[in-house]
Amino acid sequence: TANVGVLISGRGSNMRSLVANATEAYKVVVVASNRPSAEGLVWAREQGIPTFALSPKEVGKQAYEAALDAALREAGAEYLALAGYMRLLSDDFVARWRDRIINIHPSLLPKYKGLDTHARAIAAGDAEAGCSVHIVTEELDGGAVLGQARVPIQSGDTPETLAARVLDEEHRLYPRVLAEWLTR
Ligand code: GAR
Repeated sequence: TANVGVLISGRGSNMRSLVANATEAYKVVVVASNRPSAEGLVWAREQGIPTFALSPKEVGKQAYEAALDAALREAGAEYLALAGYMRLLSDDFVARWRDRIINIHPSLLPKYKGLDTHARAIAAGDAEAGCSVHIVTEELDGGAVLGQARVPIQSGDTPETLAARVLDEEHRLYPRVLAEWLTR
């Protein structure tokens, strides 16, 4: 069983799905956030999962990442899963966790790296959208894709209606791909 630390910035619905669907493949040993007010932290604490929260604005990015790294190792994390983590990790941090960080991104990579993925897919007139789980490298949303799920874009979709359809798939995809990747 691999020990996984999950990094969040907000709601944490993907983090909840990772916890709820954990199998023998992995266990979530810590939930960490760059936003002390992240809603997902409340749920994690209620579950008795150790949490770490610190704002980079309080201490600077370097000190923040050093504290984050220490807390993750202290909790026994061997792998990291980013779940709505909206800060860019530094090259140094990524190097320290090389090939042990994965992320879920709400687009069919390599399309629509970065933000506003659903609005961009709708504006482009795409027939489908989706989500991707990928390895984190120094290049934003650029590492190897481990798995994807697709949904149709329907006429009348707004970024919000499309996001909800994709999010349902995220919740199914992420635990499955994480477990597969860890037992590869
Ligand atoms: C999810 O849709 C996730 O794919 C996206 O943010 C949302 C977080 O929701 N991540 C990114 O855009 C990463 N750049 P959640 O906090 O409920 O899991």
